[in-house]
Amino acid sequence: MNGKVPARQFWSSRTAFLLATIGSAVGLGSIWKFPYMVGDNGGGAFVLVYLGAILIIILPLLIAEFAVGRRGGGSAVGSFANVAEESGASRSWGLAGVLGAVASFLILSFYSVVGGWTLAFIPLTASGSFTGAGVPEIAGHLTALLADPMTLTLYHGLFMGVTAVIVMLGVISGLERAVTILMPLMFAIMAVLVVYALVTADGFAAARFLFTPDFSKITANVVIDAIGLAFFSISVGLGAMITYAAYAGRDIDLSETALITIAADTFISFMAGFAIFPLVFSYGLDVAQGPALMFQVLPVAFSKMPLGAFVGTAFFVLLFVSALASAISLLEIFVSWLVESGIPRLIAAPSAALLCWFAGLGTVYSFNLWSGVHPLDGVRGFENQTIYDLLDFLTSNIMLPLGGILVAVFAGYVMRRSAVLEELGWKEGVIAWAWFLAIRFITPLAIILVLVWKFTPSGNAGG
Ligand code: PHE
Repeated sequence: MNGKVPARQFWSSRTAFLLATIGSAVGLGSIWKFPYMVGDNGGGAFVLVYLGAILIIILPLLIAEFAVGRRGGGSAVGSFANVAEESGASRSWGLAGVLGAVASFLILSFYSVVGGWTLAFIPLTASGSFTGAGVPEIAGHLTALLADPMTLTLYHGLFMGVTAVIVMLGVISGLERAVTILMPLMFAIMAVLVVYALVTADGFAAARFLFTPDFSKITANVVIDAIGLAFFSISVGLGAMITYAAYAGRDIDLSETALITIAADTFISFMAGFAIFPLVFSYGLDVAQGPALMFQVLPVAFSKMPLGAFVGTAFFVLLFVSALASAISLLEIFVSWLVESGIPRLIAAPSAALLCWFAGLGTVYSFNLWSGVHPLDGVRGFENQTIYDLLDFLTSNIMLPLGGILVAVFAGYVMRRSAVLEELGWKEGVIAWAWFLAIRFITPLAIILVLVWKFTPSGNAGG
C-alpha cells in the first residue's frame, strides 16, 4: 500500500509524535491570533463558540486526520489516495489533499511574514528598546516596523529560509530535538507572563471579558471567524496532521494524542489571553486593534517588570520557535507531496519556500504600500479588506472548513469502518458510536450550515 513512499520514516517515540503535533498546533494561532480575534469579536461570545467548535468539529476531525494519515502512510495527497484505493474508492480522493496543499501554501505565505515580526522583535527587545518606555512609544515600534516594507521583507525571508532548511534536512530529526526542549520552555515563559499580568493588572476585567458571553454578539461572522480560528489553531483541515500521522508508529494511541494536542493548544490560547487582556484593561488600551494587539500589549509588561528585557527577549525567541514548528508542518504538507511525486527533498523544499516567500510579499505590502488596495472593493462585506485580510479569510474560513468536510465524508463514508476502528484501537461501543455520529453527521452539517448562513443575505456576508 505504501509502495509510493520512499523510505518511510517514523517518529522515534510516542512523545516525539505528540510534541510534533503540539508543535504544529501551538504557534502564532494561539498566542497572536486568538487574543486579537477575541478582542475584535467582543470577547466571551466568541470564546464560547470557539470552544464549541473545538469540541464538536475539530476533535472528531483531528482524530480522523490521524487515522487517515497513519493508514495511508504518505503525504496528505498520497494518504487520501492510498486509503481510498484500499477501501475500493477512486484514487482521485487525492484531490482532497491537493486542496490542503494549496491552503498550506497560502497560509505559510502570510504566516512567515508575521513570523518575521517575531524575529524583528528579538533584537528590539534585547537592546532594551522597551525598558521604561511609555505606552505610545511602545506601540510606535510595531507601527514603524509595519511601515517599512524592506525590513519586513528581509525578516520574512529569514523566517522562510530557516523553515526551508529544516524541511530540507528532514522534518523528523530536526524537529524532534527542537520541540522536545523548547515547547516546555514556551509553557514556562507564558506562565511567567500570566502571573505578571494577574498580579500587576486587572485579571478580573480580563476574566469577565473572556468568560461573560453576550449572546447578542453571535452573528454569522462571529461564528465563522471562531470556527476558522479553531481550524487554524489546531492545524486541521489541510492535511498537516495527516502528514505527521503518516510518520507515526503502530504503538501510538491516536485519539489520546488528539485530546492532548487540543488541550495543550487551548490551554496556551487562554494563557495568552490572560497575559494580554489584564494589561489591555489596566492601561486603557484598545481590545479591538487587530493583528497589532499582542505586539503592542506584551511589551508594556516588558517595559515595567524586573528583568523585562531578558524576559521579553526569551518570550520572542520562544514565540519564534513555536511559530517555526508550525511553519515547518505547513511547508512539509507541500514538500512531502512533491517528494512523493519524485522531486528530491533538497530541491523541493527550497523551491517551494522561495515561491511562498514571493507570494508573501502581498501580505508584506498589505501593511504599507498596498494598505489601500482592496481587491474585492465591489463585494459587500469585503470592501475594506487588504490582500492579507482576504488570504486569511479565504484560507481559515473557507478552505480549511471545506477540507474539514472532505475529511469527515472520507473517514465517515469512504474509509472502511474496520480500518478506522483498527487505526484508532477502538472496539464497537459508545466512543466509536459517538465519533461516527459526529464525523458522519454533526461535523459536516455544522460546517455546511455555518457556511450557508454566512453566504445568505441574512448572514451579512464578509467582514
Ligand atoms: N496551528 C498553527 C498555529 O496556530 C498554524 C498552522 C495552521 C500550522 C495549519 C499548520 C497548519 O500557529
